[in-house]
Amino acid sequence: MNNMDNWVYVCEKDQIDIEDLKRFDYNNKTYCIFHIKDGFFATDGMCTHEEVHLEDGLVTDDEIECPMHQGIFNIKTGKVIQDPPCEDLKTYPIKIEKNKIYIQLK
Ligand code: FES
Repeated sequence: MNNMDNWVYVCEKDQIDIEDLKRFDYNNKTYCIFHIKDGFFATDGMCTHEEVHLEDGLVTDDEIECPMHQGIFNIKTGKVIQDPPCEDLKTYPIKIEKNKIYIQLK
């Protein structure tokens, strides 16, 4: 689904385990959709340090650790928790309807 509010269908809710993430590619951009105990969240997929995708990173509570140099970001805010990255990740709204996950893209 892609309507005027730019809500884009990602996948079914049960396709992302808790404390895990799914890579989502759309219109030449890539994102991470996270499932943590507080719900579902979305950020840009690429680490802001180097061109490395976070899909193989480690999700712990509400943090994602980059697989390359172990930079850590907060999943809910995108904020850098541990360097080397110094730029925060962009975050995106998520909604769940009838067990389907949608991301709002600008
Ligand atoms: S590429 Fe992510 S911390 Fe370096």
